[in-house]
Amino acid sequence: MCGIVGYTGHESAASVLLAGLRRLEYRGYDSTGIASLHDGRLHLRKLAGRVRRLEEALAESPIPGACGIGHTRWATHGPPSDINAHPHLGGEGEVAVVHNGVIENHDALRAELSADGFTFQSQTDTEVIAHLIARELRLLRDPQIPRADLLLNAVLRALPRLEGTYGLAILHRDSPGLIVAARQGSPLVVGVGEHEHLLASDATAIAPHTRQVVFLEDGEVVRLTPDSLQIAHVNRGPVTPRIDRIDWAPDAAELGPHDHYMQKEIREQPETLRNACRGRLRRDQATAVLGGLNLTPRQVRHIRRIVFAACGTSWHAALVGEYLIERLARLPVEVEYASEFRYRNPPLDDRTLVFVLSQSGETADTLGALHEAKRRGFPTRAIVNTVGSSIARAADGGIYLHAGPEIGVASTKAFSAQVAVLALLALYFGRIRGLPFVDGLAALEALEFAPEAMAQALQTEPLVRDAASRFQSTRSALFLGRDLLYPVALEGALKLKEISYIHAEGYPTAEMKHGPIALIDPETPTVFVAPRGPLHAKTLSNIAEVKARGGPILAVGTQGDAELQRLADVFLPVPDVPELIQPLVAVAPLQLLAYHVARLRGCDIDKPRNLAKSVTVE
Ligand code: AGP
Repeated sequence: MCGIVGYTGHESAASVLLAGLRRLEYRGYDSTGIASLHDGRLHLRKLAGRVRRLEEALAESPIPGACGIGHTRWATHGPPSDINAHPHLGGEGEVAVVHNGVIENHDALRAELSADGFTFQSQTDTEVIAHLIARELRLLRDPQIPRADLLLNAVLRALPRLEGTYGLAILHRDSPGLIVAARQGSPLVVGVGEHEHLLASDATAIAPHTRQVVFLEDGEVVRLTPDSLQIAHVNRGPVTPRIDRIDWAPDAAELGPHDHYMQKEIREQPETLRNACRGRLRRDQATAVLGGLNLTPRQVRHIRRIVFAACGTSWHAALVGEYLIERLARLPVEVEYASEFRYRNPPLDDRTLVFVLSQSGETADTLGALHEAKRRGFPTRAIVNTVGSSIARAADGGIYLHAGPEIGVASTKAFSAQVAVLALLALYFGRIRGLPFVDGLAALEALEFAPEAMAQALQTEPLVRDAASRFQSTRSALFLGRDLLYPVALEGALKLKEISYIHAEGYPTAEMKHGPIALIDPETPTVFVAPRGPLHAKTLSNIAEVKARGGPILAVGTQGDAELQRLADVFLPVPDVPELIQPLVAVAPLQLLAYHVARLRGCDIDKPRNLAKSVTVE
């Protein structure tokens, strides 16, 4: 969704901002723009379309200055257009604002400001913020306030009028070298460089410049010049900045030799799994070590129920977690869509532990679910990839995935890292709650083997590439799996629809005969996620049922499974691994299938239509 970048220093602001905007493209957007400040003038370029177009416009007509703000917009109020693109100017052009989030009372503010003589150019909610700040600047003609503090004061007076969420970056014509930024419900991070400061909604945008960062909290306002960084909380006054270090190399977000980020991230999964488990397996006790959880063994024993809340792929991973934890730790688990959990007021009791799962750590529905659980006084934990994200900081403890930045909109490596971390959690809880040493050791050894198993599963790629042509003109597909592989079927279907726009549905295999079987015909392929397991014979019967109705069959199965291979039109063999890690090896060919089908169909794989990487609105 929308992205913000800001720079004040000694380099060309336009170049730094463009580089930052390019690194934010993955979030999904429809228009873009930048404003720079030079010699008491604000210079603006903005347009609907890709950052490449903005770059061309700037090459034709460059803008000067070493201080500026930039934005990628994902339309909410008003369609994508040059006028609705950010930055927006306030007053008579004395203020420039970029904004992420939604201002809920924008209609009332627009009416009030119009009555005060302010003229609106766009349909956005953001423009009211620009005018509001411009109005405060005019009202603040107080000689007692040093010129350098004027913008900060005007912003502090304007913010209480806003209802909704915002990450804001603001320039003022008469405040050289100054950016004021504010956060409420939409992330902002400051980058600390040598005689320069950067600002972004996502650390990926500024990582090549600096790895020293300060994550802002809700309610904080920051004043940035090349040599100073001051933070204040709107109600609590000055805040001492805490500098963190980004723990991944900036080139982790580069495409390298790959054609797409999705391809890169699929291929990275053996390493992702290694990183997710690194230092977390304890062989002598046949358990996992998860320090960040902040749970003593006594507290773990006290838990009677776990609720997972998440969206999309993270929800699918949570479903794998349900099967794993119930199996290894004998603890009841419920998996909720975060958006439902938040509003449906589910009954929870004192012995319920609420977990939220999120790759980005910024998904509005998931963050809302977390806040709701906290509001009701329940202990919360998070499983998150992005270090320092809103969810990571709001939870009472949690587990990081350590998967590095995931850029492709279709989540892949985050899913496998989530599954690995959930397996660690199941092992840890299990060993406290009675899982025998020998079973714990078997689980631990399976996890140790997971990176190698994933590498082997990825070797199906040439076969998948051939199979993809069968899906190229398919209109609809079914994905079936049972037990631990049912969520994998759901995930395979989601991947296919997200990036190739082919309708796909996932079901538990045995559910097929209760309805979906009506869809079977020679044009509708069924993908069986069917590595060998205790219910394999039943799955083979289901496959025969589809075959009898002329439905094409693609099966992901255990290497050497001659019976499955005989029944399937396309057989994708994955290594023979313990059930615990079957979801990991089984998901790899499905991710590759979605990728190659989308490629054949000429789809925009890393930026599929209508989707955003991090969904920060409800
Ligand atoms: C996954 O491919 C999707 N793009 C989407 O479903 C995603 O998983 C969902 O929006 C949740 O995101 P999160 O993990 O960052 O919270």
